[in-house]
Amino acid sequence: MTPAEIIAMTQTYQMGNYARHPVAFVRGEGARLFDAGGREYLDLLGGIAVALLGHSHPRVVDAVCSQAKALTHVSNLFHVPVQAELGGLLSGAAGGGKVFFCNSGTEANEAAIKLARKWAADGARKGAHEFVVVEGAFHGRTYGGLSATPQPKFHQGFGPMLPGFRVVPFGEEAALEKALTGTVCAFLVEPIQGESGVRVHPPGYLERARALCRERGILFVADEIQSGMGRTGGFLASSRFGVAPDIATFAKGLANGLPLGAVVAREEVASAFGPGTHGSTFGGNPVCCAASKVVLETVLAPGFLAEVVRKGDLLRAGLEEITKGRSDVREIRGMGLMLGMEMETEVKETVGRCLSAGLVVGSAGEKVLRFLPPLTITDGEIRRALSLLEESLPREGRK
Ligand SMILES: Cc1ncc(COP(=O)(O)O)c(C=O)c1O
Repeated sequence: MTPAEIIAMTQTYQMGNYARHPVAFVRGEGARLFDAGGREYLDLLGGIAVALLGHSHPRVVDAVCSQAKALTHVSNLFHVPVQAELGGLLSGAAGGGKVFFCNSGTEANEAAIKLARKWAADGARKGAHEFVVVEGAFHGRTYGGLSATPQPKFHQGFGPMLPGFRVVPFGEEAALEKALTGTVCAFLVEPIQGESGVRVHPPGYLERARALCRERGILFVADEIQSGMGRTGGFLASSRFGVAPDIATFAKGLANGLPLGAVVAREEVASAFGPGTHGSTFGGNPVCCAASKVVLETVLAPGFLAEVVRKGDLLRAGLEEITKGRSDVREIRGMGLMLGMEMETEVKETVGRCLSAGLVVGSAGEKVLRFLPPLTITDGEIRRALSLLEESLPREGRK
């Protein structure tokens, strides 16, 4: 099929819920992508924080192929060796606790929401069923995740939302302190907000929130779906703020592109999920677990996370350098290889120009350019990406 045929066929047979770029990718290698016409691109978006080890990482490919040949699916009615091993690795990486496997981020949050309510109802905090969430958060598209996502544009036409979600303004400790009342079972928070523009909480906010939850017997739930698995230079972004959650949710890069999500909860909380309380047919299927084992082994290998911090600093310094003196850049922010650049104007056209120049970048909200490259990106690729980006920024804001 030609690129035009691929695009036409997608538009004819698939629902119109995605605003896709007119590019069809057929191959990936590390931080590089190749389209159907054979053109090469540098990828600073990584499938929206998914291609953690880069596209078609040879060890991931090998693990997936051998597992698919051995056993693709058997259900959670039985034990699965690779799932057992991954559970151990993930629990250790997340600081201990028990794991529930699912298939996506929204499912991980859905499970965390159910787990927190069940934990409260089982006696830990009877009558407390509410969640406190932060303005601007994004927690997914199912009704639980969507109800926890206080952004009207995502709710439009889908109401009513689930009851029991209270919203606090971004970064305001006093408002949070007031909201964490006796009817609340959990505070659900992205350590760094991804979708709403790579927003970093003010210094001390997460630590204070953690302390308040502990004092009041409320669960601190970290949505690490985008920020976790090493993206910020810690396995959990929470850990970079010195915070240990009661529950953490993971997905995106967890299996380097295969669908896998997970919830890790402190043992006492996790025990609320007894047999039959929750489940997933595909959750933790052997092929995704095999890919994820390679991801975790790689990310947890000595020195890997320190490299993420170093490369994050390199990219950030480069972004600052190419935008020095520009009148249209408000802020460069984020942590590790989760970075955003807020502009004065909409970034849609810049994203399009980048793509035409052979650079894949993302946007978050209307005015933020978003960078979530594979953690394995090389220094040379970072420098090349910066030069493509510099060429693609609007002419008007130049010094
Ligand atoms: C922080 C966060 N939570 C949840 C989700 C939902 O994940 P998924 O799209 O895998 O359902 C996302 C996806 O962007 C996310 O960034």
